This record gives sequence, C-alpha cells and structure tokens, in this order.
Amino acid sequence: MSTLTPNPTAPTFLRMADLALAGKRVLIRADLNVPMENGRITDDTRIRASLGAIRHALSAGARVLLMSHLGRPVEGSFDAALSLAPVAHRLAQLLDQPVYLHQGALETARAEPGQLVMLENVRFRKGEKKDDAMLARAYAGLCDIYVMDAFGTAHRAESSTHGTGLYAPVACAGPLLAAELDALTRALMSPKKPLVAIVGGSKVSTKLSVLTELAGRVDRLIVGGGIANTFILAAGGRIGKSLAEPDQVDVAKGILAAMAEHGAEVPIPTDVVVGKAFAPDAVATVKPVSQVADDDMIFDIGPETATRLAGIIAEAGTVVWNGPVGVFEFEQFAHGTEALAQAIGASAAFSIAGGGDTLAAISKFGVEEQISYISTGGGAFLEFLEGSALPAVTMLEQRARG
Ligand code: 3PG
Repeated sequence: MSTLTPNPTAPTFLRMADLALAGKRVLIRADLNVPMENGRITDDTRIRASLGAIRHALSAGARVLLMSHLGRPVEGSFDAALSLAPVAHRLAQLLDQPVYLHQGALETARAEPGQLVMLENVRFRKGEKKDDAMLARAYAGLCDIYVMDAFGTAHRAESSTHGTGLYAPVACAGPLLAAELDALTRALMSPKKPLVAIVGGSKVSTKLSVLTELAGRVDRLIVGGGIANTFILAAGGRIGKSLAEPDQVDVAKGILAAMAEHGAEVPIPTDVVVGKAFAPDAVATVKPVSQVADDDMIFDIGPETATRLAGIIAEAGTVVWNGPVGVFEFEQFAHGTEALAQAIGASAAFSIAGGGDTLAAISKFGVEEQISYISTGGGAFLEFLEGSALPAVTMLEQRARG
C-alpha cells in the first residue's frame, strides 16, 4: 500500500494552443468511443468534448485528420457495426461542415486546409493494440503535428495514442487532455482541504489500487456499494446476504488503519436500505446496520448516513467522485446517491467526477452544472487516481524534453 506518497508532479508538455497550425497537416487523436445502440449514438458527450481541438485546428486553417477507436473490434478486419460513420455524421452536424470518412489505404489520407477527414476506427488496423511501431510511423507520416486529445484512452499504450506521438515531427496535448489533467492535478496535487473522495462500486478488489492510493492522500474516504459492505464487515458490522468480498476484509482493515494514522477517516454507514431481492420492485426497508437480517441485501446507504456524509461534503474543500453509493437505477435505492450528488452540487468545494455510472447518476439527478469538472475518462480517470502514469502523457512529457 502506498501511503502519504508525494503527489505526482504536474505534467509538462507542449500544448496545441501554443502552436501555429495554418497550412499544417494536423492529426488529432480523440476519444470518440461513444455508446451506441442499433447503430445510433445514445450519448454524444465525448464527441462534444472533442470539438475544442477540432474547431481550433479548422479555424486556424490546418489540414485536419482525426482518428479514434470505437468499441473493441477484432483487429485486422472491418466490422460495420463499429464503423465511425455515425460518429462522422454527428460530428458534421455539430461542426456544421462536412466530415469525410477515410476508409482507404492510410497513406492516401489527406485533407485540404480547413477540411476535416476522419480515419476509420483505428482498431480495425492490425498492430494498434500492441503499439506497433510500423503502424505508428505510418500515422506519424501523415502529419506535421500530432495532437493527443483522447484523455479517455490516455491509459492505453497503443499505436494511435502513444507510438504516433513518439515518431511525429511534433507531438502536443489537445485542449481536452490538458483540461482533464489540469483538473485532476488540481484536485489531487494541491487540493483545497479537506479532500474528500467518494469511491463506490461493487468490488474492493477492482478498485484496490485506487482505494489504497487515496487512503494516503485524502482526509475522508467515503465508500459505497459492495465496497462499503466489505468495509462494514471489516468494522464488525452485519451485511446479511449483501454483495461483499470477505477475502478483502483485511485489505479494508489496512486501509482503515492507514487512514487513522494520518488523522483521516472512512465514515462507515450506520444505517442502510435493504431489500430481499435485486429487483426494480423489491421492497426497500431502512434499518440500522446492527439490525441487518441474514437474508437482507444492502442496496443503499440509509438517511442517517446520507445526512452525515452530506455534512462531510458540505465542509470539503475538494471532492473527487467515482462510483455511486447505492443501486440508483432503482428509485427506492437511489436516495443515498441522490443525497450525495445534491450535496456535491451545493458545496463550494472544487469537485471532479468521472466514470460511466457516476456520469449517469450526475445526469439522473441533474447536477451537471454544479460539478466543477466532469471527466470524459473511465479507466483513464481511475488510473490517474491510482497514481499510475498514463502512457500517452508520459510520451508527451518525453517529447517536450526533446
Ligand atoms: C473508454 O471507454 O474507457 C475508452 O474509450 C477506452 O476504451 P477501451 O477500454 O476499449 O480501451
């Protein structure tokens, strides 16, 4: 476990905003990996978040090539269901200008000044996932300036996110990547205290590194979902049939001890909302943790706990949020997550949130405008919280050093 480790240093790299782009061949790697259902985009947040870099390059008169992955296709073959065609279509609507989708040989991809050409899903090409140098060199050959703007994929060392930056004549960070890193660095490097982290989710084991890293850094670590159940067990509480990981109880005890060592706290739920089945119509009952029955399942924090946690959030200087604290998809188990969302929204703290479920909760409870920064990253957001170096960022720093 890393406790009280020094904060990561603020990344230093070239930024797109500082470069002259007119007439230049600019290749932007964005994360346009949006959710789709039957060929339709169900949430275009990532496309809208990527517009800054694209508009900047187009208005500067650059020859703009854009690339992204979509889903996880089998490399080396075209899969119509994962074509970027719907994304190109949506992008054209948002930009109010044509977006040409290039599906031919890579070497033939070119754009005129002020024109936008999008390369087909980078994961159709063999070598992408393995960060193949030949493929990376081929991308690099298409540009004068490579712009890495895909924060959501910055934790992947792939040809389009990492290798291309090594070989391109110039490699810089796009505005989205820079903004994400600035917000995360602000929240974790020089946070206004107290720093409160909320980590929800089903398993301690999948968020172990995040929990252990944050344990050394934060003043209050609010846990939710199955993770909270494991902490309740660690504190000697009752959880009935709830989702938990008994084999992680010692880990949870270690985190509690590490937090206590530097005067920090994990506010473990004192009351919970239980049901007898995981179902949208399950009857919800509020009870103290001490009265959880053997056949109960905990699906949310109780009102007393929610009030206590909202108080902690109200006093926070910084809040980092990843993961809901209950099954908020079911109305009767949504109140805890809603109370925390509202508390974050109402608090004067600098707040940053990331992760698919968290974003869905923010949207459900309508607090988007009140969160200081909403990250487009899922895995990348978590890896940053873990204190892991993001390969794309390391590459940009390396290039900036020359
Ligand atoms: C994401 O959705 O988290 C990113 O686009 C990365 O996608 P991946 O997990 O398939 O690499």
